[in-house]
Formats: sequence, structure tokens, C-alpha cells
Amino acid sequence: MAHAGSFLGRPYRLSGTVIPGDKRGRTLGFATANLQPEQELIPALGVYAVLAGVTGQAKVPAVANLGVRPTFDRKGVVLEVHLLDSSPDLYGAQLEVDFVDHLRPEKRFESRQALQSQIALDIQAARRTLDLETPGPKKLGASPSTPSA
Ligand SMILES: Cc1cc2nc3c(=O)[nH]c(=O)nc-3n(C[C@H](O)[C@H](O)[C@H](O)COP(=O)(O)O)c2cc1C
Repeated sequence: MAHAGSFLGRPYRLSGTVIPGDKRGRTLGFATANLQPEQELIPALGVYAVLAGVTGQAKVPAVANLGVRPTFDRKGVVLEVHLLDSSPDLYGAQLEVDFVDHLRPEKRFESRQALQSQIALDIQAARRTLDLETPGPKKLGASPSTPSA
């Protein structure tokens, strides 16, 4: 994914309106904003480190699951975004999600507890990835050399 991003010259972006979920996220201990992606072409299903924000506003670090949630036998692909450092009410908002890195494929878990522990690990992995991958001039490589006299 990082490679695809660098090939495109920008991260892969999906957008959509935040729709009601089953509110299960909250009972699992993390709130998510659920979007139905507007785009027809989507990346591989799975868990991603992302940057997410309301269209036209600054993006913040988040972890996302793009998938069908096989643990709960859900139908249809949904993009679920969990913001790492805030939990604003995003219901009805138009969100943009920039995919920074693919963390793992989506899978079916034997129990809610197993899914919960995995999501805690996903959050840590996303945090590590996003701290390392700071966007901006730092990524462009060495600073310009100081002209010598
Ligand atoms: C980081 C993250 C990873 C997830 N990974 C999986 C997964 O591997 N398998 C799965 O069935 N659901 C996965 N989910 C989806 C959860 O099942 C879902 O968030 C939960 O059921 C809440 O859904 P609701 O908001 O519609 O109630 C993941 C969600 C997040 C935020």
C-alpha cells in the first residue's frame, strides 16, 4: 500500500457519508464511524493505518477496517474508522480516508474477546506506522545542502 501510494504520488483515498452502525463498536470498547465507500474500486479488504477527516478539514490518525466483518456475518463492504486520539460525533458527516499502510487481512474470530484483543494490537500498530510516516517535507529525503563559499 505504501508502495501503491508512492506510485500514485498520493495515498489511496476513499470517501463516504457516515451511516449508523450496529453500535457494537462501543460495547467492544472502541467507537467507529461507518462509511459506505462511494468509490467502486476499493483496495484489498483488511485493516489499515489511515488518516481521516471531514472533507475539507485536517485529517487525524486513525485505524480502519475495510470489510464485511466475518465474525458477525455481516453482508456488504463497509469502511469502519476508529480515530486514535479523539471521538467526535461524525454522524452524517462526509469523511475522507487516506490509506497509509495495510496492517493485516480481515478475518473471522472465534470470540468477541479475540477480536477485541486483536483490535487493541491493530491500534498499537497503526500508531507506530503513523508516527513513523509523518507526511510532509521530512519524507522528501536529505535537506538541501548548504552552498559552500
Ligand atoms: C481496527 C479494526 C479491525 C477490525 N477487524 C475485524 C476483523 O478482522 N474481523 C471482523 O469480523 N471484524 C473486524 N472489525 C469490525 C468489528 O467487528 C466492528 O467494528 C464491530 O462489529 C462494530 O460494528 P458496528 O459499529 O457496526 O456495531 C474491525 C474493526 C476495527 C475498527
